[in-house]
Amino acid sequence: MDILTRISEVHEWCAARRSKGQSVGFVPTMGYLHEGHMALVQQARSRNDAVLASIFVNPTQFSATEDLSRYPRDFERDCELLRNHNCDAVFAPTPEEMYPEGFATHIHIDGVTAEFEGAVRPTHFDGVALVVTRLLCITTPTALYLGQKDLQQTAVLRRLVLDLGLQCRVVVVPTVRDSDGLAKSSRNVYLSDVQRHQALVLSRALRAVCAEVQSGQTSVEIVLRAAHEVLGAEPALHLDYIAIVDPLGMNTLQDITQSPDAACIVAGKVGSTRLIDNCYVRQVW
Ligand code: PAJ
Repeated sequence: MDILTRISEVHEWCAARRSKGQSVGFVPTMGYLHEGHMALVQQARSRNDAVLASIFVNPTQFSATEDLSRYPRDFERDCELLRNHNCDAVFAPTPEEMYPEGFATHIHIDGVTAEFEGAVRPTHFDGVALVVTRLLCITTPTALYLGQKDLQQTAVLRRLVLDLGLQCRVVVVPTVRDSDGLAKSSRNVYLSDVQRHQALVLSRALRAVCAEVQSGQTSVEIVLRAAHEVLGAEPALHLDYIAIVDPLGMNTLQDITQSPDAACIVAGKVGSTRLIDNCYVRQVW
């Protein structure tokens, strides 16, 4: 596996593949990789001639109150995992390479960023949009692989690719969970054993929502009542939001039948660790 740290190296690497007519699948990450990230690499591997991942803990998507320096990192282990999953190259730039002195461009996406993660973390999606735009410009991949785990992020980045006319397919891969239901996340390492157990309330609430919908309930108010009952039984959870949305526009639904697709999104804190999760409750296509 090639380890690339300079933008010029990535330009060369990608140009070489393109000149041979090869497709390139791109998997952006912030490292501390787990099976969730690997599911994206596997998808990219199965559908492309070449697979490129990136590892960059992007400072612009962290607010001043979020501890960027505390974000877990293990570059050697990440490379080992990527190698084992037949990733062809990893781009691991320094912050100076990504944001050199004099860097002055900002990107803001309206609409899909207004609520939920965008409301709780007001500058977060500007940072995500900026780094992903820069990464897509550098790598010009055939397809971009994203996890459903960060549902609003997929909506934001779909909007970005569409609005900027980028020639890149967006592929969303289902959330990978531990056997007890907890969605895999690099941030799970912050949880103590007790907190990890408390965090299961999120996936439990989502299952309660799915059960309500499967039993034929379409009123969001009634469906969410079931979720609140589950969430209320775990006092360690500080709920930020739970809602049912259309996953493309991220608009709140009142009735599940209002949109061909509907997803339940939930977020909250256990201790100082922020957790998010979601599940589809309706998929017409
Ligand atoms: P990071 O949190 O490292 O996630 C990288 C990709 O892995 C994202 O697309 C995310 O949705 C996906 N992912 C994480 N956990 C997953 C799981 N349990 N199952 C499936 N996919 C999962 O998301 C980011 O980094 C950053 O915001 C980034 C897009 C790289 C921009 O900096």
